[in-house]
Amino acid sequence: MENIPQSRRKFITKLTLLIASGGLLIRYLIPRSSGMRRVLVSVAVTDVPQGGALLFRNERLALFKDDGGFYALSLICTHLGCTVTVTEDALSCPCHGSRFDRQGKVLSGPADRALVRMKVEEHDGRVDVVG
Ligand code: FES
Repeated sequence: MENIPQSRRKFITKLTLLIASGGLLIRYLIPRSSGMRRVLVSVAVTDVPQGGALLFRNERLALFKDDGGFYALSLICTHLGCTVTVTEDALSCPCHGSRFDRQGKVLSGPADRALVRMKVEEHDGRVDVVG
C-alpha cells in the first residue's frame, strides 16, 4: 500500500471537502432554470367572464378579465400565506382579515403587501397563467 505523507493526505481531504461544499453552495445559490415556461392553468379566452374571475383553488390563483384584458393574482395572502377568497368587489383573507381590491392592492391589513400578480399569456384563443 502506498504511503502518502500525512500533510498531503490532509491537503487532499481538505481540497475534496472544499470542492464538494462549493458545489453544494453553488447549487443552493443558483436556482435551476430549465428555460421553459411552466403553464399553471390554461383556459379558453371565452371561458373567462368579462368583469369576472375564474378561481383555481389547487393552484391558489384567480384569473380576471376586465376592460384592460386578462390578469391573474396569486391567492396566497401576503401576511402569513392563507388562501384569500374572492368576492364580487374585493379579496379577503379568512385568517386575520386582510382585504385586497380586485387588482390585489391592500385595502386593509395586517397584510402590507399587494397580492402577487402572475404572468398571463394569450394565444390561439387561450389564456395561460405561467409561472
Ligand atoms: S394570513 Fe391573511 S391576513 Fe393573515
